[in-house]
Amino acid sequence: MTVPHPQPTDFEIRRIPYLLTYPLRTAILWPNHPSEVPLAADPTGLHYGLFLASDSSTPVSVISLFIESPPASDFTPQQQSKGKIARFRKFATAAEIQGKGYGGALLSHVFEDAKRNERITGVWCTARVNQVGFYEKRGMSVVEGSESDQKGVKHVRMVMEL
Ligand SMILES: CC(C)(COP(=O)(O)OP(=O)(O)OC[C@H]1O[C@@H](n2cnc3c(N)ncnc32)[C@H](O)[C@@H]1OP(=O)(O)O)[C@@H](O)C(=O)NCCC(=O)NCCS
Repeated sequence: MTVPHPQPTDFEIRRIPYLLTYPLRTAILWPNHPSEVPLAADPTGLHYGLFLASDSSTPVSVISLFIESPPASDFTPQQQSKGKIARFRKFATAAEIQGKGYGGALLSHVFEDAKRNERITGVWCTARVNQVGFYEKRGMSVVEGSESDQKGVKHVRMVMEL
């Protein structure tokens, strides 16, 4: 059975101050490790929130984007010369609305905004291994040999040209 995807009128996506991302980062990503929530780079990042029409002040899905190159040569010099490379981090959707298409809509919006308005031509992330399929469906690829461990949570690096 297919559940219909949310209609465009169901939600709004906009850039938000980084502090507005912290409640979802805490509740969804690191409920037992609050020290993992703030990032030193937060003041320099771009932060996005998805809001349901019923509440335009509390985001139900958040994600943050930082101009940052990956720690290894995941992008060729030619790819890097095309534009900026950005890393997205701390992607979280409120538990009660996960799996309804909002996170995917937010990610698509961020990629589009990054490409169109920030001259970003490549994105990467350190993905939780259980979310690799989600990102692969959206065009990202796993970097061979990039496995890492953060507080016991296994991650791999994933990359994509925009
Ligand atoms: C990862 C995360 C941010 C995605 O947000 P989301 O709102 O659940 O994302 P979506 O609803 O767009 O997609 C989630 C899945 O539901 C599926 N889905 C989306 N809309 C659907 C619909 N209408 N009917 C059925 N399935 C649907 C998607 O296909 C996707 O499945 P897939 O992974 O097999 O592609 C969210 O699940 C989350 O916060 N997870 C916990 C924290 C986490 O792991 N963050 C990422 C760290 S790398």
